[in-house]
Amino acid sequence: MTKLADIDWDNLGFNYIKTDFRYISTWKDGKWDKGQLVTDNKLLISEASTALHYGQQCFEGLKAYRTANGNIQLFRPYENAKRLNLGARRLLMPEIPEEKFVDAVLQVVRANEGYVPPYGTGATLYIRPLLIGVGDNIGVGAAPEYLFSVFCVPVGPYFKGGMTPVNFTVSDFDRAAPYGTGAAKVGGNYAASLYSYHLAKKGGFGDCIYLDPLTHTKIEEVGSANFFGITWDNEFVTPKSPSILPSITKYSLLYLAKEYMGLKTAERDVCIDNLQEFKEAGACGTAAVITPIGGIHYKDKLHVFYSETEVGPITTKLYNTLCGIQFGNLEAPTGWIIKV
Ligand code: PLP
Ligand code: COI
Repeated sequence: MTKLADIDWDNLGFNYIKTDFRYISTWKDGKWDKGQLVTDNKLLISEASTALHYGQQCFEGLKAYRTANGNIQLFRPYENAKRLNLGARRLLMPEIPEEKFVDAVLQVVRANEGYVPPYGTGATLYIRPLLIGVGDNIGVGAAPEYLFSVFCVPVGPYFKGGMTPVNFTVSDFDRAAPYGTGAAKVGGNYAASLYSYHLAKKGGFGDCIYLDPLTHTKIEEVGSANFFGITWDNEFVTPKSPSILPSITKYSLLYLAKEYMGLKTAERDVCIDNLQEFKEAGACGTAAVITPIGGIHYKDKLHVFYSETEVGPITTKLYNTLCGIQFGNLEAPTGWIIKV
């Protein structure tokens, strides 16, 4: 095994550090080049790049996990490849062949093996692929060239404390429009969320909850994660909407809740005025993993689910099942794990 980097693995947050190698590939004259690993973490691009002016870019987030025997594995990377291509199509960018995407991720993880946190610390290697429009362009239109880049950063929990309950507040603002780009992982959605995030943090909350942009009555997302609730009769429920990001973690939990835990499951509307239908609630995503929701602040009231300090039993079991698979302690459904 490669020597591990000198990092305080137990106290990692979700912060950028430069690792040794990243992958970069260029699309020009209608095709992708072979791509290569480079050491420089700066991109030199035209000042007229569409990514800078018109937000023509999309990105992904996935993780590499160190297993108990020291091996490294990826969780469902082909799903990230598919979702990146959904964003590429939506913003008129060239798609990345799925094999090229996964190969780039594998190359980056292998080249930075010493940054994959040791098993047992709970930390992981977060991988950030991005696709951006570059080149000389000034009118609103698709870029003449594109860069596909993949870098990685060792990370700890996204929300402070990891598997401890966090309170969230409902935002008056939207992150996406009803028929906009909410389902694509494009930078514009995140730019639109920065101010609401700032207000939520200022109010002492972990992040904000977005409601559906058309009626403002239904839960959409929990900041950079999807929402789930457990009803009093043990149904795993998660919102269905065309303007939320289709979370790979959420779809994994829908499967695991049903097939591994025997729960009923539903993707349906979740009304902000009916939070009492849930005994437990959580946020789920690659960065958030599963973050239990202590309470939701809405119209000057805090609705507390299971507890503001303790984690409910079903949320705990979902977390253990998901992490058991991701870290290689539980048998995964076919095709979910790719060995590095
Ligand atoms: N929703 C938003 C807005 C996100 O940024 C993310 C993170 O990727 C998620 C949900 C969770 O998606 P996933 O589970 O695929 O990481
Ligand atoms: C992820 O979970 O991968 C995300 O994209 C969250 C993030 C924007 C930090």
